[in-house]
Amino acid sequence: MTNYHTIEWKNGTVLMLDQRVLPHKILYQDYTTYQECAQAIRSMVIRGAPAIGAAAAYGMALTAYHSTARNIADIHAEMHTAAEVLRKSRPTAVNLSWAIARIMNQIDDESMKTIEAIRDEVLAEAHRIAQADVETNKQIGLNALPLIPDKANIIHHCNTGSLATVDYGTALGIIRTAHEHGKQVHVYLDETRPRLQGARLSAWELNQQNIPHTVIVDGASGHFMRTKEVDLCVVGCDRVAANGDTANKIGTYNLALVAHAHNIPFYVAAPTSTIDLKLATGDEIEIEERPAHEVTHVGQTHITPEGSSVANPAFDVTPAKFISAFITENGIAYPPFKECLKL
Ligand code: MRU
Repeated sequence: MTNYHTIEWKNGTVLMLDQRVLPHKILYQDYTTYQECAQAIRSMVIRGAPAIGAAAAYGMALTAYHSTARNIADIHAEMHTAAEVLRKSRPTAVNLSWAIARIMNQIDDESMKTIEAIRDEVLAEAHRIAQADVETNKQIGLNALPLIPDKANIIHHCNTGSLATVDYGTALGIIRTAHEHGKQVHVYLDETRPRLQGARLSAWELNQQNIPHTVIVDGASGHFMRTKEVDLCVVGCDRVAANGDTANKIGTYNLALVAHAHNIPFYVAAPTSTIDLKLATGDEIEIEERPAHEVTHVGQTHITPEGSSVANPAFDVTPAKFISAFITENGIAYPPFKECLKL
């Protein structure tokens, strides 16, 4: 366990570590409504696919916990409204709708005959989602061990650690497990413009874990693959289609292409909750467009000239053919992914 909590339930309040101000400030926000949770997800107080799944689940739990509904029909209506609002908060990571669907399945269960039963069961399910995330991540780390050389230089993109999950992390969890098992890992951390999850958040986590790392600008990864010994790339994911096409933080596709050109393995850490078998290919994945000011500004400083137009897709899709393997809690999936990801 880390000594901070990405998200935590405390007596009818959800606490979230505010990732917008890390690493310079440790600030917890507390929320008591689903609307506040949705806004926290949208504004990236909390981010990372598994973490926003847990945030949505606890947003649903808040709704049930504080409900003043007098009958089952009214609490059902409230929960459906909360689900709708939370589902729209960020569109790309499937963990969000996956977690909400799990909660709604509990509510729709015919055995839920009282408001108290719904309240208890929704909270219990949110806790189960959060707890399972930690176990899943640890298992992903263990499953990846055979793929990590005893001495390895690794490139990583965005933040996929404890902060992006309930705890432990997926791709950074793999690196952490390798380090804890005595492997000599050194990590090149892509800074990850525009929100700088690599420079701010991944570097903060690796510092605390004493894992050797070097922060690089996103455009430098090709240079390092060409001129230094890079053994592998490992990244997380926000949604994996049935054929293995993978949405992840913008810049992942570029990284995968350069890795492919240099014959460097490109691994995706993928909890099964992020695999969306309903989508045949990555073309069906909705890509979130984020506000222009994330690009036009660095911190408070406006860096682009007035009048220049800006595009800010938060994610891209890496075609499956550039992915060497997916590491899930159930094992390692190699191509052809269409067969393997179903298992
Ligand atoms: O916009 P973000 O910071 O939510 O994007 C996060 C990523 O792209 C992560 O790589 C992904 O969610 C996996 S986190 C375990």
